[in-house]
Amino acid sequence: MAPKNEKIGIVGSGIIGRSWAMLFASVGYKVSIFDIERKQIDSALVEITKEVKRLESQKILRGKLSGDEQIACVTGCTSLAEVVKDAVLIQECVPENLDLKKKLYTDLDKVVDSKSIISSSTSTFLPSLLSDGMKHKSQFVVSHPVNPPYYVPLVEIVPAPWTDASVVPKTKAIMEEIGQVPVCLNKEVPGFALNRIQYCILNEAFRLVADGVLNVKDVDNVMSEGLGMRYAFLGPLETAHLNAEGMKSYCERYCNSMWNVCQTFGPTPRFEGPVVDVMNEQLCAMTPVDKLQDRRVWRDTCLTHLAQLKKKMNN
Ligand code: NAI
Repeated sequence: MAPKNEKIGIVGSGIIGRSWAMLFASVGYKVSIFDIERKQIDSALVEITKEVKRLESQKILRGKLSGDEQIACVTGCTSLAEVVKDAVLIQECVPENLDLKKKLYTDLDKVVDSKSIISSSTSTFLPSLLSDGMKHKSQFVVSHPVNPPYYVPLVEIVPAPWTDASVVPKTKAIMEEIGQVPVCLNKEVPGFALNRIQYCILNEAFRLVADGVLNVKDVDNVMSEGLGMRYAFLGPLETAHLNAEGMKSYCERYCNSMWNVCQTFGPTPRFEGPVVDVMNEQLCAMTPVDKLQDRRVWRDTCLTHLAQLKKKMNN
């Protein structure tokens, strides 16, 4: 595989921008990075080089190009006009602040051409909110990654009501090309899909601790040693399908008991009050704040091994 002649523009080179840059470079896109802080670009280029070399030495580098070839694909640039020029896709990765993002899109609208896909990494803002009023709003889509995107392949692709019909399939094809797993929402909805499901889990985790049913460690064990074991391979719907003689049989068998349990869930918690301190204390006893980075490295190593296992099991 040779480096490609197509360009991706990355706007914002923090945690997510760097990860995207590595993913696009892994299949040979010419990746151009822009940030309002020049030193962020410099540090992104240094960190990407270090990270690619580390992954290559551990034989877990993604893509078929060598580490040096991938590193050579990534360059910094000094203006918004330059980063968007001739890009097939522009991936916006600036902080999750509505005014800041809106201002960026006003500026970007003036310099982008009519062919580039304008793709936002936003975790929370609806695409219609970000792109309303833009001249190029039909080119706008959200491509929401999951942190850390290099190890967790899901990307939620979310169109605004006015996104051109060609934009979602083109974005999906690019995400598949870089080895991510896109899911395309047919319409925008607050929280997209991942956070809607994640918030259901967090709500119940919070209630179980607040009601004194389980401590933090045991709530987390329910996921990591229980549900999570199968959810790494199967979603909840296929799990249900397998847990009876198909989904219809599952619903017939369990609909009443599920309904009865769900009636006891209670109101949505606000994630405030003394229980937050209780949870924080127990979590800090498990991983002190000054050891979070070590734990993140461990998490990424686990995810890499899991990704390799999943690849093996799917072959
Ligand atoms: P970050 O704070 O690490 O990086 C943001 C970068 O954008 C910084 O380097 C900053 O200098 C730069 N920046 C600020 N204003 C800019 C502008 N006008 N033009 C160009 N660059 C600018 O933020 P992070 O965590 O990388 O998040 C970026 C986006 O990704 C956010 O929308 C966030 O919601 C989303 N996201 C973050 C995840 C996470 O876990 N960190 C997960 C999924 C999505």
